[in-house]
Amino acid sequence: MIILGIETSCDETAAAVVDGGRVLSNIVHSQISDHAPYGGVVPEIASRQHVQYLPGILSESLARAGTDLAGLDGIAVTAGPGLAGALLAGISAAKTLAIATGLPLIAVHHLEGHLASIFLGPTAPDPDVACPLLVLLVSGGHTGLIHVQQPGRQRWLGRTLDDAAGEALDKGATLMGLGYPGGPAIEAAAEGGDPQRFSFPRGRVKTAPPSTGDALDPDLCFSFSGLKTSLRYFLRDHPNAKKHAATLRDVAAAYQEAVVDALCERISIALERASYAGLACVGGVARNGRLRARLDEAARRAGIPLWLTEPEFCTDNAAMIAAVAGAGLGHPVSDLAELDARPSWPLPEHACRNSAAGLSSRDRAEIGVDGWRGNCG
Ligand code: KG4
Ligand code: ZN
Repeated sequence: MIILGIETSCDETAAAVVDGGRVLSNIVHSQISDHAPYGGVVPEIASRQHVQYLPGILSESLARAGTDLAGLDGIAVTAGPGLAGALLAGISAAKTLAIATGLPLIAVHHLEGHLASIFLGPTAPDPDVACPLLVLLVSGGHTGLIHVQQPGRQRWLGRTLDDAAGEALDKGATLMGLGYPGGPAIEAAAEGGDPQRFSFPRGRVKTAPPSTGDALDPDLCFSFSGLKTSLRYFLRDHPNAKKHAATLRDVAAAYQEAVVDALCERISIALERASYAGLACVGGVARNGRLRARLDEAARRAGIPLWLTEPEFCTDNAAMIAAVAGAGLGHPVSDLAELDARPSWPLPEHACRNSAAGLSSRDRAEIGVDGWRGNCG
């Protein structure tokens, strides 16, 4: 199955061609420099940039894969969650291509894409052996722990009540004057710093946020908004901290450590509460070296393998979107007119599967799924 994937949910314009688990091309145009002056993603700029860049990115992804539209078996597009206008840019392109070629169109949940990134690349594990997996999903828009029983059968164990980990790093970097995106900026600024010199809160949670599936465990949930506030007060009370290079290095290291510590503390609890065949981490923050080192320690302590997504597939990309469709885990669109952007589409959990691969027609009838119209978002 050769699938063209399209991803435009935030500030990366991306297209990729994937054949089974093999990535034939993976083109990402990052809009970072367009948003950097504002310290975060400006939705209107993101939508316009997608419209401008997508045609070229699509052509390049086909050319690099050594194919053309006639060589494809399907088109996959991120339908949500994400910025409405940004999603619409990708969806419109995907619909146009599907109409022009007659190829099937498959809607993909962005977070299911991040989960699929675990299985991309030459060193990726075999899903049948690697699962059940405890997955830490850490991106700019989402943070949580997910139990993946097998690809396509997942449920939230805990998630953030407020800011995502990446958002906490982005906002923290802005406060420290380190630029955007904040994750890599803080990682670079923290190099050689002392993470113990200052202390920032780890955001423990007493009441879990509402869930669309099973009730979430507060011990496995996160809160990062207090961290950012505590940094704001720290910088107000230490007005010279930003001017003094060594102090700023220690502040950045301590702030990064607070984020990483909060994530790893919840992972240790989750690993004590259930038995997993492996630990994995996906999303843009999974590129962070300190987090990767701490995850390695956690997996070693639990005696299970750690599957780290390759850096290229951690941040938003279209290979992961095509991979979901290629594995039969996307949401086939039976009526193109029905497909719309779903900015707040919840992660489809356990029984909510309507993939072509996983369910018989009887199963589909039983849980009331029929292509896009009936899916469980
Ligand atoms: O997954 P992603 O590309 O987009 C979303 O789906 O949100 O993640 C973007 C986030 C940003 O918050 C960025 O600061 C963070 O990933 N990030 C990092 C690193 N590289 C990107 N955070 C920490 N360390 C990094 N090296
Ligand atoms: Zn993402």
